[in-house]
Amino acid sequence: MNPLLLLLLPFWLLILQFVVCNSIYLNYTEALSKSILFFEGQRSGYIPSNQRITWRGNSALGDGPGFFSDLRGGYYNGGDNVKSTYTMAFTTTMLAWSVIEFGEMMPKEELRNTLVAIRWSADYLPEDMDMNRTVYKLQAIDPASEVAGEVAAALAATSIAFRSFDPYYSDSLLKAASGAFDYADLYHGSYSETVLIKYGVCPYYCAFDGYQASIYSHTHTHTHTHTHTYKRMVTHWQDELIWGAAWLSKASKDERYMEYIQKNGDTLAANENINEFGWDKKHAGINVLLSKEVLERKAYGLDSYKTSADNFICTLIPESSSSSHIAYTPGGLIYREGEKNLQHSTSITFLLLVYAKYLKQSSGSINCGSVRVGPAKLRVMAKRQVDYILGKNPKGMSYMVGYGRKYPQRIHHRGSFIPSIKDHPQVIKCKEGSIYFNSSNPNPNILIGAVVGGPQKDDEYEDDRTDISKSEPTTYINAPFVGALAFFAAKPIHHN
Ligand SMILES: *[C@@H]1O[C@H](CO)[C@@H](O)[C@H](O)[C@H]1NC(C)=O
Ligand SMILES: *[C@@H]1O[C@H](CO)[C@@H](O)[C@H](O)[C@H]1NC(C)=O
Ligand SMILES: *[C@@H]1O[C@H](CO)[C@@H](O)[C@H](O)[C@H]1NC(C)=O
Repeated sequence: MNPLLLLLLPFWLLILQFVVCNSIYLNYTEALSKSILFFEGQRSGYIPSNQRITWRGNSALGDGPGFFSDLRGGYYNGGDNVKSTYTMAFTTTMLAWSVIEFGEMMPKEELRNTLVAIRWSADYLPEDMDMNRTVYKLQAIDPASEVAGEVAAALAATSIAFRSFDPYYSDSLLKAASGAFDYADLYHGSYSETVLIKYGVCPYYCAFDGYQASIYSHTHTHTHTHTHTYKRMVTHWQDELIWGAAWLSKASKDERYMEYIQKNGDTLAANENINEFGWDKKHAGINVLLSKEVLERKAYGLDSYKTSADNFICTLIPESSSSSHIAYTPGGLIYREGEKNLQHSTSITFLLLVYAKYLKQSSGSINCGSVRVGPAKLRVMAKRQVDYILGKNPKGMSYMVGYGRKYPQRIHHRGSFIPSIKDHPQVIKCKEGSIYFNSSNPNPNILIGAVVGGPQKDDEYEDDRTDISKSEPTTYINAPFVGALAFFAAKPIHHN
């Protein structure tokens, strides 16, 4: 053999590894089905007989009565038995937005499953409108603009998603959305700032380290193993008012919502150049959503939203002359400091595809200094994120449970790591669950379709149940992924 060829051996091996790593076949249709199936594993309340994730039984049936309302149902937002109205509403908005933009591309059966998943939480939301299941009903004196604003957005978006399938349901959702919005706007403020103080729940749920805890509704079922204090940044409630108004404007075509945006957008700083989109920050989502109106010249005075949406896209393009850039891991995953990184990847991926669609419909493009960006580039960027999550990454690992050859086995999820009541009829008392929590065995119940918090900034993932940030799945990670997968299942664009 030519010694030069031998010398180059490591190089050839590298190329080979690259080719192999990049040639795994990804079945987007399968991933789409699973991403929707996941929501059945998160169901709270009475489980219907057609439930497909069978290890999940009835739970939290005691919610509500002391409060003169029925608060059974809805979704647990993650791996602990907690239902948070705020994140559930955002999840619902994202599932509905997925159907609005990409529902027509879904196989009929999956469209039906997605509508069922949306209805499961939308039905809960018009009923709910409360913070603490036992005490804090939204009362006129308790501002909760961010929660009520997000509920308004969720119900309005759901009303659009259902319009052609169930007009009667769609109308009733719109009415409820409008009520939620009026409430949100009448008493400005955040529930995490006011309710906590008012009801004296400090210090248990209150500020430390410059963070403020948020109130979550708790369910203590027999699987309860430990108590958490949920911390997050002090909530900004302003963006949800514009977000809610934007969805109501789309759903109702009532001029007053567009006027509200035109009049209040600047004061509420919703059009700000904040390059984030998640359950607590709607800015990039608002900017993309309202850019459609600008691109179609349907409303005046919204140009700043389009400018901010463009700026947001430019931060994702490393070679752009943008003043700041969003980071990527060496393996190519969008990375932000903080909890559960894949929430950023899935929600930004969704926005990339939505913006690509809007730009395409209006033959638009984005100017990022020296780089001009069109829909095709946005889709390639989105595909890279989707492919990473499904297994094209340095670890060759799928971050969707039950998908691919290698996926997380020890997710932080009580329903998944504690034996099902169907296999273990005796009650598992409080604390007894820690045997399972501490065990190094794989979880007995596979939560098919769950996308976990994901790897850290060096693409590493340890598959450790105690590492909540990485190993816990949440409904708000999966919801935008449903829309992205619907797109690629229908249009598996090729690049490389
Ligand atoms: C992809 O998955 C779908 C749904 O699970 C299945 O029906 C189809 O046969 C799969 N396609 C290939 C090429 O394996
Ligand atoms: C709900 O309210 C009750 C009564 O004030 C309080 O004891 C409990 O800690 C609250 N729960 C949460 C999760 O805030
Ligand atoms: C589980 O691990 C924790 C922390 O290491 C320990 O305190 C606890 O005793 C363990 N529980 C069981 C049942 O092994």
